[in-house]
Amino acid sequence: MTDLAHFITGLPKAELHLHIEGSLEPELMFELGQRNRIALPFKSVEEVRAAYSFSNLQDFLDIYYQGAGVLMTEQDFHDLAMAYFKRLAADGGRHSEMFFDPQTHTDRGLPFSVAIDGLLSGMAEAEKTLGITSSLILCFLRHLDEDAAFATLKAAEPYLDRIQGVGLDSSEVGHPPSKFAKVFAAAKSAGLKLVAHAGEEGPPAYVYEALDILHVDRIDHGNRSLEDAALTDRLVKSGMTLTVCPLSNLKLCVVDDLKAHPMKRMLDLGLKVTCNSDDPAYFGGYIGANFLGVAEGLGLSRDDLVTLAKNSFAGSFLDELSINKHLAAIDAYVASAA
Ligand code: ADE
Ligand code: ZN
Repeated sequence: MTDLAHFITGLPKAELHLHIEGSLEPELMFELGQRNRIALPFKSVEEVRAAYSFSNLQDFLDIYYQGAGVLMTEQDFHDLAMAYFKRLAADGGRHSEMFFDPQTHTDRGLPFSVAIDGLLSGMAEAEKTLGITSSLILCFLRHLDEDAAFATLKAAEPYLDRIQGVGLDSSEVGHPPSKFAKVFAAAKSAGLKLVAHAGEEGPPAYVYEALDILHVDRIDHGNRSLEDAALTDRLVKSGMTLTVCPLSNLKLCVVDDLKAHPMKRMLDLGLKVTCNSDDPAYFGGYIGANFLGVAEGLGLSRDDLVTLAKNSFAGSFLDELSINKHLAAIDAYVASAA
């Protein structure tokens, strides 16, 4: 391991943009397919990996929803979560605020409880055995209508004390945040935090909508905000956290090369950017690989990497005491690594 990789691995960090269904590795996909007697349209793990070549978000989403079809039982979701947490622990992750897509599962006939009970039990095990804390963000699929999102929020009612917030994901272009204004207002009234994917493929106008119509607490991705100087200035001044995902941006052709990734520009502008893996099983790496990719591609300094790690805790939904504890752990690590 290089010095840089070693420094990154030891740096305490939180992940704020991770779709748990996007952490389904081909090996586990095959195992669950066999366990649940679900035939996959691939003969081998290699064949699955070879199919992971995308030219845009929709290309990826088609295969991602198909892959999630092997998840059938609480145990499957528990195993999925634990596999992710082990990877996170190996990368120096201490905390994760994970997205899950209940509609992907309820639309296949699974009860809402199966996915969430399995994930919650994996989360409890990860805290006990790995010392990793986590919370859940329920994402509405934006290619579906707002009534379907309301039905999902209703199904989530018995679990509201165990759900941190709601988010908005899936096909962005053509499905602006304003389509979900009412259900986000209802989620806020229920005491939930609000986040939304905006400005991944969609225009700056979608980021404005997420801020002004949904009143989000964080923007997921937000890359295209940089096309609008007034918007960028507003995000800087308000200290809005952006959950940026470098390897995702590369694989979904949001950028052509990590050397051209906007992360360094974002840091230099003073945006509260964080570094995340999005769908690591599909995009070629977990949070550590994302840190390393931008560190090498953009020549980030150790100070830049520390800022990314600090932003991940400061922008989390943890309480102030926990945030301060993690920030102090980063300072202690940096002092010991000097
Ligand atoms: N669902 C899973 N990953 C996603 C992404 N990067 N953008 C939108 N929806 C998603
Ligand atoms: Zn995402």
